[in-house]
Amino acid sequence: MQEFLSSLGQVSAIIGAQWGDEGKGKATDIVSEHFDVIARACGGANAGHTIVVDGKKHIFHLLPSGCLHEGKPVVLGAGMVIHLPTLLEEIETLKEAGVDIVPRLSISDEAHILFDYYKDLDAKLEELREQGIGTTKRGIGPAYMEKAKRSGIRMENLNSDPSDALSAAAKELEKTYGLTIDIASEIARLKEAQEVLKGCVNDTVMQLHGYLKEGKKILIEGAQGTLLDIDHGSYPFVTSSSTTSAGALQGLGIPPNALKSCIGIAKAYCTRVGEGGFATEVEGEVGDRLRERGGEYGATTGRPRRCGWLHIDDLNKAVMLNGITHWNITKLDVLDEEEKIPVGVGYDNGNVVYEQIQGWKASTVGMTKFEELPENAQSYIKYIEDKTGVSVALIGTGQGREEMIVRS
Ligand code: GDP
Ligand code: IMO
Ligand code: MG
Repeated sequence: MQEFLSSLGQVSAIIGAQWGDEGKGKATDIVSEHFDVIARACGGANAGHTIVVDGKKHIFHLLPSGCLHEGKPVVLGAGMVIHLPTLLEEIETLKEAGVDIVPRLSISDEAHILFDYYKDLDAKLEELREQGIGTTKRGIGPAYMEKAKRSGIRMENLNSDPSDALSAAAKELEKTYGLTIDIASEIARLKEAQEVLKGCVNDTVMQLHGYLKEGKKILIEGAQGTLLDIDHGSYPFVTSSSTTSAGALQGLGIPPNALKSCIGIAKAYCTRVGEGGFATEVEGEVGDRLRERGGEYGATTGRPRRCGWLHIDDLNKAVMLNGITHWNITKLDVLDEEEKIPVGVGYDNGNVVYEQIQGWKASTVGMTKFEELPENAQSYIKYIEDKTGVSVALIGTGQGREEMIVRS
């Protein structure tokens, strides 16, 4: 463990290598213990990160999954789009679990506020599309549209009275899209947030650079996954933010050369929620088995996730785009019953070429040592290492915080 932790350096990012839901939350929770500051950089409440601690499930949408570790500053960066009622709800839920996050929470004054009516617009845009994207309907696209259009309202506005700016921006959207926006309710929600978040809205770029100068270790929790990246993902079936390590650094205002390691998170198989191509998808009995064994239902929307196999080309793309230095292969236990595990290794006339890896047909649930794994499970991990040239440092064997193999 110690060797792994010291190889991460001062700034490390945890980045999804697939289409999201790889298990970033669990890795963040575990690795956070050894970092001083935990940050989220991009995206919004389209994310759903689940951790299980002492049998209790916690789902985070906006706060980073490391926030259960007492005393560590938590930062929400400028690249985020923040739905304030969801944030207040998360703060409240944490309070009920005995964690008061507000005194150690900083939100970038440059982050954008995501209003309720963006969700209505998200749904409307989906309706208007000939082929829907299958968004989470959390208003993410509209929030980044407003940001790019330079009509967005940022967290800095929370320190004064944002009513006029909000009314002007809302009226324009009403006119363009025929929406009916309840501005008074939006303002009431803002006022409530102003009350709770007094003192939380800061210049987080200066703050993070202060931590760097003091030698503090910063862990960045990515959201979504590499294949959902607005530039490099499976466009147009992507989210509206940059989901790579570079996007995370930009979202926080940390320079690229500060990043010392990147933990790529990939399931031992693959899932996707929403529309868009998924070459190694399996439907029918096998897909259903993976979904049931893996509990593959969205943490944000409850939608069933589409299931399939790894494709080495996708993993290698994620390695290239993010500079992945270590893998965390999650949910190995979900494959315990498989006779053969197909892995995509290329394409022939548009069809996936598979190699068949021998399954292990034995339980790996809860294992914490690599040597305990059945031989074929060890071979599967080594196969991923061989094909991607990146070592597997962490292997997930269950939902619980302790169900993880850490290889030094
Ligand atoms: P995230 O969005 O990347 O944080 O992932 P999600 O939380 O949306 O989905 C991952 C799901 O897999 C969650 O329900 C986790 O509790 C669960 N999970 C994570 N790692 C493992 C593992 O190694 N084994 C099993 N069985 N479940 C896991
Ligand atoms: P985490 O952080 C899985 C997907 C949606 C849809 C597409 C666009 O939990 O891994 P959006 O609402 O962002 O406009 O939807 O992106 N998507 C995710 N899929 N995990 C996520 O987050 C996702 N965030 C967005 O399903 O296909
Ligand atoms: Mg998720």
